[in-house]
Amino acid sequence: MLKIGVTNQKGGVGKTTLVFHLSYLFSRSNKKTTVIDMDPQGNLTSCFTEDLPEKSNIKLIFEGNLPEPIPINKNLSIIGADITLSKYEAEAKLANFFKLRNLLEQLNGDVILIDTPPSLGLFTSNVLIAVNHILVPADISKFSLSGLSDLLDSIENIKESTKSKIDVIGILFAFTNIRMNYSKAIRKEAESKYKDLLFDTVIPESVKVKEAISKKQPVFDLYPKHKTSIAYKEFFNELERRLYGKR
Ligand SMILES: Nc1ncnc2c1ncn2[C@@H]1O[C@H](COP(=O)(O)OP(=O)(O)O)[C@@H](O)[C@H]1O
Ligand SMILES: [Mg+2]
Repeated sequence: MLKIGVTNQKGGVGKTTLVFHLSYLFSRSNKKTTVIDMDPQGNLTSCFTEDLPEKSNIKLIFEGNLPEPIPINKNLSIIGADITLSKYEAEAKLANFFKLRNLLEQLNGDVILIDTPPSLGLFTSNVLIAVNHILVPADISKFSLSGLSDLLDSIENIKESTKSKIDVIGILFAFTNIRMNYSKAIRKEAESKYKDLLFDTVIPESVKVKEAISKKQPVFDLYPKHKTSIAYKEFFNELERRLYGKR
């Protein structure tokens, strides 16, 4: 089973939007996919549903219970979050860091995709401890090499202290106005430092993405020929090659 955490401690870099689109790409490529929202803001949950049943709320893991995934379609289900999760953020006792890992051991299927909040606190730590792959979306206009190296350091620390095998699959510019000269300069800087990690594909910035999310649809369903739709699919091919060594 692939367990993929999508994380970056910065907000507004496209984490949630990326998890939403990836959930459709994986489930349509015949992978039984479960999406987990680990952010008390519940933005990912809202992309799928406006009312989250109590029994499918991820906060249950901190109450000693197992949440039940809500089926979205044949291959896709979701465990959601809402603001009531936030009260557990302060309960950072050791056992609470392993709750998500325990849950994932109970789930079956092919792919688990997890969205994280914009911080390196208890919830993101739970994700880093539970997954075997980390995908890092970045916004080129807010890109910071120091922020990225903090994140990579946290991953290394967790790897050492929990003896887990987390692999950083790569960094994706998920929200990119690539025509700006400034963007090109940043891309060059990022390439010089993280060449092997950067995905070749970038997701362009477009209002079509926002529009699709507001309609609870992936952009490739609403505008199949749009440049962002093509980019998401190209990115998925690249991701599959890295994950499965395909083609
Ligand atoms: N490629 C894109 N083009 C335009 N808007 C985007 C794109 N990706 C994400 N957004 C929008 O940017 C905002 C932040 O994205 P989001 O995925 O919520 O980031 P994060 O989860 O990192 O905070 C959202 O309003 C989302 O709709
Ligand atoms: Mg988010």
